[in-house]
Amino acid sequence: MSLFICPVCRAPLSKNERTYSCGNGHCFDIAKKGYVNLLMSQTGGQHGDDKIMIAARADFLNRGFYDTLSSAVSECANEHCKSGSVILDAGCGECKYTADILEYLNGCGKDVSVIGIDISKEALGYAKRRTNRLALAVASTADMPVPDSSVDVLVNIFAPFSAKEFARVIKDDGIIIRVYPLEKHLWELKALVYDVPYENPAPAMHEDGLLIVSEKTVCYEMDFKSNDDVMSLFKMTPYFYRTGDSDKKKLESVNGMTCRAEFGITIYKKI
Ligand SMILES: C[S@@+](CC[C@H](N)C(=O)[O-])C[C@H]1O[C@@H](n2cnc3c(N)ncnc32)[C@H](O)[C@@H]1O
Ligand SMILES: [Zn+2]
Repeated sequence: MSLFICPVCRAPLSKNERTYSCGNGHCFDIAKKGYVNLLMSQTGGQHGDDKIMIAARADFLNRGFYDTLSSAVSECANEHCKSGSVILDAGCGECKYTADILEYLNGCGKDVSVIGIDISKEALGYAKRRTNRLALAVASTADMPVPDSSVDVLVNIFAPFSAKEFARVIKDDGIIIRVYPLEKHLWELKALVYDVPYENPAPAMHEDGLLIVSEKTVCYEMDFKSNDDVMSLFKMTPYFYRTGDSDKKKLESVNGMTCRAEFGITIYKKI
């Protein structure tokens, strides 16, 4: 049996060489890049992040500026995992954190299974460059092809949070690690681009059916040493797409800067 269930009939899926299939005859191909598409509404158009956004995020993350955050997430996961645990990254993107968690837990001697779910097949298509040891499915965080009460640690980083669905898939003693930007995250970048920069809205952390177990912040300064570093950050933010050409030009001559990274990490369990 695999870690996934059939999105059509909810029966367990078995992994074969090139497909996943259930006992009721539903069959799903494994793409060359290693993921399986279990998204039920296959309407046309782009689902989730597109190729350009994925490449921009990968380029920035590969420069290491969010490694401090990634370590904090892996350490949190480690506190709640043992060998045999199942970790699910819901809205995993191109799997930077997903792959880091697997490597960290393996380094701690824990043999775990790590699932990545994202609605963007372009994102999951990138993940193979990081590792081929993740179980990857294209699906929505609002309807995940994963059995009830099967996950020990669910990770959700800058991605849609689906409280009811997350509570369904975690075990009774499972946890959810939620990561989000704090109000002043990337403030110096915004101050350079905008005449009147605004703070990120504080997210509402209360979620029906979930209890907050702990909250912490991870705050540090990133030291950008080139225009490439600065532009790689800008290009992976939503600001890049919302900013006019004249404001974008302000960054052209910036060859380095210090910018704060400020993240919140909230841990939930189910009530
Ligand atoms: C800001 S990115 C974060 C990706 C990754 N967690 C990271 O931090 O690098 C948000 C991700 O959520 C995905 N996404 C958006 N809506 C989604 C949905 N309904 N279900 C699953 N993934 C979704 C996007 O495709 C994108 O990869
Ligand atoms: Zn089926």
